[in-house]
Amino acid sequence: MTVAELLDVLWRDYTAATPQAARIRQLLTQHGELLCDDHIALRSYGAPGVGMAALARPFEARGWHARERYRRAGGHLRACYWQHDDPALPKVFISELVLEELSPSAQAQVRRLLGQLPPGFTERDDLAWAGRPWSLRHAEYLALLAESDYAAWVAAFGFRVDHFTVDLGSLSTFPDLAALDAFLVEHGFALDERGGAIKGSPAQRLEQSWTRADTALVAFDDATVRIPSCYYEFARRYRLPSGELFQGFRPPSAEPLAERVDAR
Ligand code: NI
Repeated sequence: MTVAELLDVLWRDYTAATPQAARIRQLLTQHGELLCDDHIALRSYGAPGVGMAALARPFEARGWHARERYRRAGGHLRACYWQHDDPALPKVFISELVLEELSPSAQAQVRRLLGQLPPGFTERDDLAWAGRPWSLRHAEYLALLAESDYAAWVAAFGFRVDHFTVDLGSLSTFPDLAALDAFLVEHGFALDERGGAIKGSPAQRLEQSWTRADTALVAFDDATVRIPSCYYEFARRYRLPSGELFQGFRPPSAEPLAERVDAR
């Protein structure tokens, strides 16, 4: 599988659960834009065989290199981003839930899901987009949701891209995120306005906004229920004093991870 084929399969899988992203990409394309992605984000549980390192395999095999690692204080998440030598390719942001920091009951629930992994699952080449390999009841989803949106999302959707993010710098007719956001609202899309539509600042070298989450029908053991799936994101990066574009992730961004713990 080539890099282009990998990104294509991830896009198809993502837009199956978040169809508004395909509609927005089409809208921008019809508007004359040739958009590039800033990053794609994946989520997982921090457990052997399915964590960040496992999800990174298909990217590392195709030339992405691990860059900064992050830890969200009190947020139960670890993350890292990977960057490719080809600057036209998106960064890959992978996070994992630190299970040991969940309540005993949530930990037990997640471990019950992980206990259902079929033999050989963690070795799959397509692990990063393998979908949900376990079954659960709707009440189990709701119990996890009460403690952690993130834990519940992975329980319901399994292994797949959480979001794609458009690089504002690749657009020619939108000078800033406010202009892009206004265009999307004009065309019937809703943005996540919690904390203001635009998160981050020029001082942080990164501004992002994203749509209100789409919804998808998910088949639980006992019921098929429409639940929030994911959003489409837009990022504007600013130059560092050195003149280079900032490539990392900083709070308060889509990836609200407050402390950088390691860099190279
Ligand atoms: Ni993001």
